[in-house]
Amino acid sequence: MSNTRLVNNIEWVGYIDWDVRDFHGYTTDSGSTYNAYLIKDKKTAIIDTVKAPYADYLLNNISKYVELKDVDYVISNHAEPDHSGSLPHLMKLCQNAKLVCNEKCQKTLSMYYDTGKWNFQIVDEKTELSLGANTLRFINTPMAHWPESMATYIPEQKILFSMDIFGQHLATSNRFDDEVCLATAMYEARKYYANIIMLYGKSVMSVFEKIVNLEINIIAPSHGIIWKKHISEIVSKYKDWAVCKATSKILIFYDTMWKSTAMMANAIYEGASETNKIVLKKYDLKSTNITDIATESLDAAVLAVGSPTLNKTLMPKVAEALTYLKGLAPKDKAAIAFGSYGWAKIGGQDDVQKYLQDMNCQLLLPEPLQAQFVPSKEILNQCYETGKMLAQYASKFIDTTK
Ligand code: FEO
Repeated sequence: MSNTRLVNNIEWVGYIDWDVRDFHGYTTDSGSTYNAYLIKDKKTAIIDTVKAPYADYLLNNISKYVELKDVDYVISNHAEPDHSGSLPHLMKLCQNAKLVCNEKCQKTLSMYYDTGKWNFQIVDEKTELSLGANTLRFINTPMAHWPESMATYIPEQKILFSMDIFGQHLATSNRFDDEVCLATAMYEARKYYANIIMLYGKSVMSVFEKIVNLEINIIAPSHGIIWKKHISEIVSKYKDWAVCKATSKILIFYDTMWKSTAMMANAIYEGASETNKIVLKKYDLKSTNITDIATESLDAAVLAVGSPTLNKTLMPKVAEALTYLKGLAPKDKAAIAFGSYGWAKIGGQDDVQKYLQDMNCQLLLPEPLQAQFVPSKEILNQCYETGKMLAQYASKFIDTTK
């Protein structure tokens, strides 16, 4: 049986979702977990719940340790339904439990569920809730991920229940970072950050200001594995991600109709690859999902985005990727637009350029790189030289300490 014990009397009681592949548009190839925790002390508390369809798994896990009538507190750190979905079921069966949350969370929960019969206890950052040997403190973490988001901290155990931040959509039979491949956990944490948290980098930095003086032995997020051995590594990564710290990476993504835009992408790639120590990523959007594009954009110095003109505008898959990225708002990117057109010169590439402008990218070319129908030798040479120029720009971000 997998170890679910964080410390004596504090257990993971959540649900491992091996099958989820779409999380509001995020392609979750590795599944996920909805982490809930049980603290058994003189008083018993449950921290968060799981998605509604899996309520029975949560109840079964809790019942291994306590009777539901003996649960005193249910802490709701975040109202999003992946964590609150089982609350109606739980609050019905835990007849003596108070629902503990901040004021904003109460309001949000009341919009999602019929909370009329719930016994709320509203907490703020000054509240200390004693369970006996353990005290619960609360840290508001607005916009990491929603306005009502909150973390819970147990000073006696030095455990931070961090909610979405530090999470990963990663289903594993193991619960702790020292039981899984660290590279996999870090990759999934990066993917999670890019696709869920990237827009809220400033909020994440505010969270750091609040937790910087806390002693932390365990970070228990609401998705994926629990950080115990590699806390300094994940915190250090988060500090980079919160500011979208650029690395010497060029991300090229495009769609293509008759291979002309693909030829241009390949020439840009070839030109860029002349420079050492540049990381190049090149994706045809026909075979790549927007989740991976967002992940790769997080630490890219340069975005090179290509689209042919279709019906006087850009291709739908490019529009999808750029709409998604624009929402996630990666910071401080340099960029170029490129692509081919047929009879309508104004359209696809200009629309890509417009997206990049709207994303506050630094445009490294004043106009998109364009080819009519099929790129000529001269145009391909121009693409190659542009690739070299992009690599020159990205080389500013080479980590010279490695
Ligand atoms: Fe995992 Fe913002 O919910």
